[in-house]
Amino acid sequence: MKKISFEIIGHIMILCTEKPENQILAFVSSELKKRKNVKTIMLQTSKVNGDRRTRDLKYLIGEKNFETIHREYGNKFLLNPMKTFFSSRLSYERQRIAYLTKDGDTVLNFFSGVGPFSIAIAKKKPKCRVHSIELNPNAYEYLLKNIKINKCEDRVFPYLGDAFSIVPTLSDLVINRVLLPLPLKSKEALLLAYKKINHEGTIHLQISDHVKAKSELTSVVIEKIKEILNFSSKEAQISVKEIRLIRWLSPRIGHIAVDLSFS
Ligand SMILES: C[S@@+](CC[C@H](N)C(=O)[O-])C[C@H]1O[C@@H](n2cnc3c(N)ncnc32)[C@H](O)[C@@H]1O
Repeated sequence: MKKISFEIIGHIMILCTEKPENQILAFVSSELKKRKNVKTIMLQTSKVNGDRRTRDLKYLIGEKNFETIHREYGNKFLLNPMKTFFSSRLSYERQRIAYLTKDGDTVLNFFSGVGPFSIAIAKKKPKCRVHSIELNPNAYEYLLKNIKINKCEDRVFPYLGDAFSIVPTLSDLVINRVLLPLPLKSKEALLLAYKKINHEGTIHLQISDHVKAKSELTSVVIEKIKEILNFSSKEAQISVKEIRLIRWLSPRIGHIAVDLSFS
């Protein structure tokens, strides 16, 4: 039998499958017995959708407790996956960016969710200041709690609202690192970040795009960045420092991380 794909967030296992119900039920009862840390199993019944990037989840078996604490590299994230976006599959990407961040950087995270990128940076590089914007009030409430739980009150500064309205008001901040972890808005966000950032800074962009094979990743990304920023008309030199395929969203669509720097 082909495997059922799943993600584990705290004590909740989320299945992502279109298999018939009898196969799913056989799978969930054995998983619940096998994995002592899994207490609740849910089925994803929609794609991740809307600006808030939430997904519909159906309760299948186990405890009816949908709020959980997800532990990752020593950090703790409290959340309810029915109300907010969260993906445990991005854990390596969070650590990669936290590692690249220089201690003392002033970071702006346009799309912070419950805080996993902002907190990963603040914990690894304690002299950083991370300004974290979030639109979804449920995610923002968890962001506030996670800042406390992870003892980052002096380093992570939360803002509730639309990044496209808030960023232009942050005129006092000299930002040298921007995080744009929302492929859906990559174009508008990159244009705004480009205006806002100190021109020796770094932008960590996420995009999703058609990629036929991994070998054409670089050319796809360069074309996309050129198209958005219209390179030739800008004075600053933009360089693509790193391109990383985070994962395949479907057989031909890649979720891609791109690090851009300016000089
Ligand atoms: C793909 S999720 C990423 C969240 C977080 N960085 C993470 O990895 O878990 C994008 C987040 O951006 C928020 N969002 C969407 N549009 C926004 C906007 N215009 N301004 C601020 N936040 C926004 C969504 O509510 C969602 O929590």
